[in-house]
Amino acid sequence: MRGMRALGLGVIGFGVVGRGFASLFLRRRDLLEEAFGRPVRVVGISDVARGNAFDERGLDLERCLRAAESGVDLGEATGAGGLPGMELASHPAVDVVIDLTPTNLSDGEPGYSHLRRALESGKHAITTNKGPIALRYGELKELACSRGLHLKFEGTVMSGTPVLEMAQRELAGSHIESVRGILNGTTNYVLTRMEEGLSYAEALREAQRLGYAEADPTADVEGFDALAKALILSHVIFGAGLRPEEVPRKGISGLSHETVEEAHSQGKRYKLLVEVSREGGSVRASVAPTLVGPEEMLYHVRGVENAISFRTETLGEVFVKGPGAGATATAQAVLHDLLSLARDLRGR
Ligand code: HSE
Repeated sequence: MRGMRALGLGVIGFGVVGRGFASLFLRRRDLLEEAFGRPVRVVGISDVARGNAFDERGLDLERCLRAAESGVDLGEATGAGGLPGMELASHPAVDVVIDLTPTNLSDGEPGYSHLRRALESGKHAITTNKGPIALRYGELKELACSRGLHLKFEGTVMSGTPVLEMAQRELAGSHIESVRGILNGTTNYVLTRMEEGLSYAEALREAQRLGYAEADPTADVEGFDALAKALILSHVIFGAGLRPEEVPRKGISGLSHETVEEAHSQGKRYKLLVEVSREGGSVRASVAPTLVGPEEMLYHVRGVENAISFRTETLGEVFVKGPGAGATATAQAVLHDLLSLARDLRGR
C-alpha cells in the first residue's frame, strides 16, 4: 500500500457523531485500508462552531479530538488552515464526503447542500443526517446514480444497528408488507427512566447529556425525528415518496408521569411507535405513542435501544433490536457505510 494515493475522507460536522467517528476511525483504520486496498486518511474536518482543519497528508485526529473537547478552534490547534463545508465537499483531495451535520427537518440544510455538492463534484457521499434523506431522497439518489456514485445513510435509522441495507439486501424478495418499530432512542430512554421514577425533565436532561438527543430535543419528544425515520423507510423500503404532511405525528410530550405510571401498574408500557405499511396500492405511515403489552417484543426494548419488526410475505416477522443513538453507535453506521462502499467499488 505504501506509495499508493490515499483515499481522502472529508468530514463535515464535528459534534457528538463527528467526534465519535474520529475515535472509531483511529481504532479501525487498518480494517478500512484492507477493505479499500489503499491508505485511508481524514484530510479535512469542517464544523461551523469548532472550526476547520485541512491537510492533504491526513489530519492528526487525536489532536483534533483534544481541541474539540477543550473548545479550541480546530484550525488553530492543528496549524492546518481549513476549508468550510461546501469547499471541503468539492476539494480534489476528498474522495468521500461524510456529512455528520445536525438534522434540520424544515429544508434538510446544510446537509442537503453538502451532499449535493459532493455528488456534483464526483465524490461518494455518506451521511447520518436525516433531513436530506427524509426530504430529498429521490433527487439525491438520482443524482448519485446518474454519476455512478454511491450515497449511503445507514446511520439515519437506528444508528449503527443494521436496518436499511439489511432490508434492501438481506430481505430482498421477501416482500416487506409493513414495519413497526421504536426508532427514537431519546424518547424510549425518557419513557424508560420515567417508569423508573424520574421526572420527564430529568430523564430528558440525562438523554441530552448522554448525546442521544437532537440539537433541539423538541425534534425527539414531539415525534419529528421518528417522522423523519418513517419517511426514510417509506422511500427506501416501499419506494414511496411520502411527504411530512402526509404522516400523522404525535410525540410523547403530552404523556404525564401519571399516565406512564398507570400503564406500568397495568403491566403495559407506552412506546413511541413508527408504523409504515402498504395498503392496496398506497403506502401509509404514522408516528404515535402506543400502549404495548409484554406479549409484544417491542415492550422489552428499553432505554436507548431501538427495534424494528418487518412483516414479510416469505419469512413472517423479522425483528431487529439494538442501540438507536449515541456517538459510537452512530459512528459504527459510518464505518459500515465506508466498508459497504469499499465492497461496492470492488464489485462485490
Ligand atoms: N435523536 C435521535 C434519537 C438520534 O434519539 O434517536 C438518532 O437518530
